[in-house]
Amino acid sequence: SACIFAEASEPIPYLPARAMSALDVSIVVPTYKEATNLTELAARLFAATDGAQLKAELIIVDDNSDDGTIELCEELAERYPLRLITRTEERGLATAVIRGMEETTGEYVLVMDADLSHPPMSVPSLLAPLKADKANFVIGSRYVAGGSVDESWSFFRHLNSRIAGWLAKGLTNAKDPMAGFFAIRRDRLGDVSKLSPCGYKIGLEIMVRCECNRVAEVPIHFQDRRHGESKLNLREQWRYIQHLLRLYTFQFPGLLRFAAFCTVGASGMVVDLALFRGLLPIVGLAAGRALAIWAAMTWNFEFNRRFTFQEPNGSNRLAEYGRFCTACLLGATISWSTSLTLMASFTHFSTSPVGAAVIGTGIAACVNYALCRVW
Ligand code: GDD
Repeated sequence: SACIFAEASEPIPYLPARAMSALDVSIVVPTYKEATNLTELAARLFAATDGAQLKAELIIVDDNSDDGTIELCEELAERYPLRLITRTEERGLATAVIRGMEETTGEYVLVMDADLSHPPMSVPSLLAPLKADKANFVIGSRYVAGGSVDESWSFFRHLNSRIAGWLAKGLTNAKDPMAGFFAIRRDRLGDVSKLSPCGYKIGLEIMVRCECNRVAEVPIHFQDRRHGESKLNLREQWRYIQHLLRLYTFQFPGLLRFAAFCTVGASGMVVDLALFRGLLPIVGLAAGRALAIWAAMTWNFEFNRRFTFQEPNGSNRLAEYGRFCTACLLGATISWSTSLTLMASFTHFSTSPVGAAVIGTGIAACVNYALCRVW
């Protein structure tokens, strides 16, 4: 791994293994330039866990901030059970959280931000549903009754958070799936190497990949940070979209097959249209369309066989081709007749036969997929 432990002049203290095995909760906090917040975070966090008689450790995963984080953590580690992991060759919130999780030994693992936007005093209430076995994932939620967001949040931040949450609706029915304040049992988390997030949304990643089907949401007030600045930017938003695609594919593997079918279909469409253009002046309209459609159909058969449906070895290829062509026959007829009808009926299409072919091929693609799925 590119991650390393901090190599400060004084070794950073670690809890002895005996004490760690009795831990209730390991709290993982990713940090980048959060030195101004860490003293208050540690004080409020351990006041909350001590008050609830929870044995806790704090694991800070910092990406080599040049703001005195290392020195401060050394100081804090003399007062609190705190460990620092400094990464020098990697950056990113989600991977930092995973790195921290690799080090956890507590019965529960809790993740939160360093900037005090997540109230430390809510830590015990996030663990309560896990302890009572009423949930296997608990979110500190802004969007359930009793939860709220700091008034200083801009309209853009609100909108962004709502749209991002709405896009994840197919993956979870949690009201605040974007939250970075969450808790899970260590044994439910299992091997963290199965996690592969890109971007910010590590909570969503864990909910999906660890198949957390009982999600509880505890209301919190999300306080905007008082010091430092948010690292959320446009690039992170784009990575979120990529992350969503990955998660939807993982959750619904059928989607992958559909995407493969569409990709093969799109390549077949290029073959169809290129051939049609070439054949049109030579063999004329009707024969040109028919030949181009047949060629594209054969192309699609070959690539769907390899990638989309992956037939077992040894099956009769000719019989498969026959079945595929029969299934596609209806689509091909629709494609052929639609384009000819359009060209005959509309002057626009009589001067633009490729446009008519595009429409015919699009309709045929829908019919083909439906038939190929059932047959
Ligand atoms: N190690 C590391 N590396 N930590 C990082 C990095 C990074 O590249 N980027 C951010 N962090 C840390 C911050 O230092 C902070 O402790 C936490 O991750 C959250 O980062 P912010 O940049 O403050 O996030 P935010 O306020 O924009 O986003 C908040 O809202 C999101 C939902 O709207 C956070 O609470 C997110 O966790 C939450 O998903």
